Amino acid sequence: MYCRRCGEKAEIHLRRHRAAFCSKCFLEYYDRQVNRNIRKEKMFGFEDRLMMVVSGGKDSMALWDWLLKKGYNVTAMHIDLGIGEYSKDSRELVEQFSQDWKAELIVVDIKQEYGFTIPSLARKTRRSFCSVCGLVKRYLFNKVALDGEFNVVVTGHNLDDEAATLLGNTLSWQVGYLARQAPVLPSDHPKLKKKVKPLFTLTERENLAYVLINGIEFINEDCPYSKGANSILYKETLNRLEEANPGTKQRFLATFLRKGRKYFQAYKEDLKLHECENCGQVTTAEVCSFCRLLKRLQQK
Ligand code: AMP
Ligand code: FES
Ligand code: ZN
Repeated sequence: MYCRRCGEKAEIHLRRHRAAFCSKCFLEYYDRQVNRNIRKEKMFGFEDRLMMVVSGGKDSMALWDWLLKKGYNVTAMHIDLGIGEYSKDSRELVEQFSQDWKAELIVVDIKQEYGFTIPSLARKTRRSFCSVCGLVKRYLFNKVALDGEFNVVVTGHNLDDEAATLLGNTLSWQVGYLARQAPVLPSDHPKLKKKVKPLFTLTERENLAYVLINGIEFINEDCPYSKGANSILYKETLNRLEEANPGTKQRFLATFLRKGRKYFQAYKEDLKLHECENCGQVTTAEVCSFCRLLKRLQQK
């Protein structure tokens, strides 16, 4: 097979685009996609102070590298979740990349900072690992960005993540979530940071190709608690559909964003946002869910 653009030997075949690319032309394709997403969705500019949240996985490592190479004003933020070897390896990898590239990095070690790890918090509060983990991440993404006076929080969510979330929300008709699912989550409050997903049109496989071509190290293991998670089942199901019908994932997400999403806007709750009595972060309740969770932990 030969590269669609230059005719050299192809290295990667993208069935959904009916195209094959050599490494060099693939990187140009990747570049165009990310640039277009940032521009079209008005995500950010060179004047913005970006906080890129990096897990150490291929998607966030690819985007961190890409933003640095483009010269954006970016600082990475990694949360050490205290999930055994998985967190230890992820943190080391992210710290190594930051050293090699002299790239700014903030590490938040939740054990050191708050005295719990995700496993201890989940066990003691009898909640699922993924739900407490999601809550802690969302809270810290905003808090660290606010404390550091960053304008935008950038995440590594890719097409597979977004299509799986959409499938999950559709299966149970979560109309409120469907109303809000988008590549850009605007700030609805002065203390709530804008969140953006520049990789929402690129698949996991394309991000893998980006890190392999560029020789970027990444954590190639899934979180031990993700086994059996619905999100993984949805991704596998979408992969089977994609296999039979290339382009399914992309069409599912893109047509929802273009045609479907608007019909759910009436279900967007008019949330009254105010500041948590305890920590000052934005919440819909008197005390935010993070502070309530910590309180439950202390009572145990
Ligand atoms: P996930 O929720 O694990 O699918 O991750 C979605 C995105 O959240 C990733 O692409 C990263 O940008 C970010 N992220 C996940 N885990 C961490 C972490 N431990 N520290 C910082 N950012 C993270
Ligand atoms: Fe959060 Fe696995 S990464 S529970
Ligand atoms: Zn709070």
